[in-house]
Amino acid sequence: MRVLPHLSPACAESLRAALLRARFTTDGVRELLGPSAHAALGRGEVEPAFRAGREAGELGVLVRLLLLGATEPDAAVRAALAPLTPSDARDAGLLVPDGDGWRAALDLRPYADDDGEWWVLSDLDARRQDRDHVTGVGGASLTLAAATVRRPVGSLLDLGTGCGVQALHAGRHARTVTATDVAPRALAMARATFALNALDVELLEGAWLEPVADRRFDQIVSNPPFVPGPARVDYVYRDSGQDGDAALAALLRALPGHLEPGGVAQLLGSWLHVRGEDWPDRVRSWLPPGVDAWIVQREVSDPALHVGTWQRDAGLDLASPAARAQAGEWLDWMEREHVEAVGFGFLTLRRLDGASTDAEPTVVFEDVLGEVSDPLGPETAGWLDRIDWLRAHTSDEALLAAPLAVASSVVLETYAEPGTEGWAEVGAAVARMDGPRWRHEVDGPAAALLAGCQGALALGELVKLLAVAHDRPAGELVAATLPAVREFLRHGILVPV
Ligand SMILES: C[S@@+](CC[C@H](N)C(=O)[O-])C[C@H]1O[C@@H](n2cnc3c(N)ncnc32)[C@H](O)[C@@H]1O
Repeated sequence: MRVLPHLSPACAESLRAALLRARFTTDGVRELLGPSAHAALGRGEVEPAFRAGREAGELGVLVRLLLLGATEPDAAVRAALAPLTPSDARDAGLLVPDGDGWRAALDLRPYADDDGEWWVLSDLDARRQDRDHVTGVGGASLTLAAATVRRPVGSLLDLGTGCGVQALHAGRHARTVTATDVAPRALAMARATFALNALDVELLEGAWLEPVADRRFDQIVSNPPFVPGPARVDYVYRDSGQDGDAALAALLRALPGHLEPGGVAQLLGSWLHVRGEDWPDRVRSWLPPGVDAWIVQREVSDPALHVGTWQRDAGLDLASPAARAQAGEWLDWMEREHVEAVGFGFLTLRRLDGASTDAEPTVVFEDVLGEVSDPLGPETAGWLDRIDWLRAHTSDEALLAAPLAVASSVVLETYAEPGTEGWAEVGAAVARMDGPRWRHEVDGPAAALLAGCQGALALGELVKLLAVAHDRPAGELVAATLPAVREFLRHGILVPV
């Protein structure tokens, strides 16, 4: 029988004391296991970790008990968790008796980013097929955490908090954090995670934005159940219960109404690529007016890949009759709905503030497919600033009056073909070596203009010099280069000085 986790303040304090004493922290566990066993554990290979933790006292007991799924003797658990007793841990939903010993009923693990460390409670992976399974920190959680803008804000909402991971990060830069979830089990898990980390987070139960119906926030983050499929809920963490991407559409329509002016919402989402329709047109039709939006598509999966990925994620045996029947139903639904592919990515919305409500919002759809090693949070913050700057310099005159510089991470790449007289240059591009590695092909005049952008002269002065050098009318060069200059600015290839 599964019990809901519940950590009283006293129980949370005792557990925290035990975990700290044993060094059950990301550094402590990594040092104990060493790089090889640690990497193996990340791949689900437990034996190297068992071997590394053999002589490791209390930390070894906690690693085996909490990370490796082992049953540990009563005396060892009692010593490792003191001052918390094993029966207190059982009452809190953390342990279950197993013969003469104890094993974990929940997943409890240390989690860290560059600035600090927490512990996260979630359901055991072995229980992944429970309908209300509460997932731990997974790939999607990390993607959203890395893409989130981390600037100081007053209030932040984490919609669909699950184990509470986004709210943990938010506690660093938001004065108040509110977390919601539709699932009582997820709320209990998040409450326990927050108690263990001694964090004050307002927790509200309810679907979508219902629990915050009349409230606004400076920032909203959400990793919602975003997997499109037929309107049913097999797993609460994954399925919205609405047809296809209808839940995302409703969320995009509603979210800006819950943002303070200038407030930013960031969420993960999936949208359908329907035959005869461009995906940006589909997503654009969901956006309310007065909202800047940056929609970044990170992956595109064909129907078979989409269904297989999420069935595998749920731990199903894909050859079993039940999984085949489910896949068949899912693929039939996609055929009926003319779905050719499913896009996945992250969406950033900003409600225009009072001063700029007359301004034209900026809505941009971009593909950033493939590996991006830099976190996208700083890039998103920069994108919002750059959009503001461009809005304040909408006219050609304003742009031409600005001194600009090429960002320090930008390089010029040239392409050459072998010819009878050696390499013959056939093209060039400017590329950022950081962030999403934006890259733009450039012709000779554009490359020359960029070379001159060193922050000393206004852009208009440079264009005049270039016009003289290339014997072209300045007006013609302005018309030819300003659209590209705006793109360079939007992608951070050029920066205002
Ligand atoms: C993909 S999990 C994300 C959990 C966590 N925020 C993270 O980033 O790992 C989605 C969460 O949304 C919750 N959820 C599902 N349907 C919801 C709804 N209609 N309203 C609010 N939350 C919902 C689930 O219970 C689950 O905790």
